[in-house]
Amino acid sequence: MNDKELVAQHAAKRVKNGMTVGLGTGSTADYFIVELARRQTEENLAITCVSSSIVSMLKAQELGLPLLAIEHLSRLDLYVDGADEVAPDNSLLKGQGADLVREKLLAKACDQFIVLIDQTKIVDHIGAHFPIPIEVMPFAWQLVQQSLKQLGGQGFLRQNSQGSGLAVSSYGSLVLDMRFDPKLEIAELDSLLNATPGVVEHGIFYGLASTVLLADNGVVKEITV
Ligand code: 5RP
Repeated sequence: MNDKELVAQHAAKRVKNGMTVGLGTGSTADYFIVELARRQTEENLAITCVSSSIVSMLKAQELGLPLLAIEHLSRLDLYVDGADEVAPDNSLLKGQGADLVREKLLAKACDQFIVLIDQTKIVDHIGAHFPIPIEVMPFAWQLVQQSLKQLGGQGFLRQNSQGSGLAVSSYGSLVLDMRFDPKLEIAELDSLLNATPGVVEHGIFYGLASTVLLADNGVVKEITV
């Protein structure tokens, strides 16, 4: 079993009967979804799930997990997802998969947000490995890019994985992948991006994680925020 699967199985043990559970997106979240489905079948676990993306919705549907549309959700008990980077203050970078809006809605609406990572995700500052993904209204991208340049940001519109055009989120946003001066405080950058007109959502998850579960060479460590 690899570290992603190990940490996902560990998190799935925390799901109790009656909970409403947010399903993350990505390879680690997929292991979590598979383990939840197994528990539902073999242990009669009674839960309601809500997905953070179309990809996780399709996975959950295929495995027979009961899904609630996000439109009908007012709160949830638990949200479990991966991350691309985790800094020492437990701020996260997410969104290499482009669909940030649902992920951040679930992270804000849940009682507990458990983040699943392996050692490769630990960084000394957000943006160490990846640019910050910023979802923008399509007509606003040049103005947003210009505003972000004034904050010292540099970057471009993301291309789709086929290399045949621009990446587009499930809801029609474009994605600017931007790098900023690492000396800029992440709390300040979070606020500046939140306040930039035309930005739909961005990949900095500041102050949202309740618990980070780290799997390191077969051992799970818990970092509670
Ligand atoms: C998707 C995400 C993922 O959680 C993140 O990319 C981690 O993916 P993986 O578990 O495949 O390493 O933020 O938007």
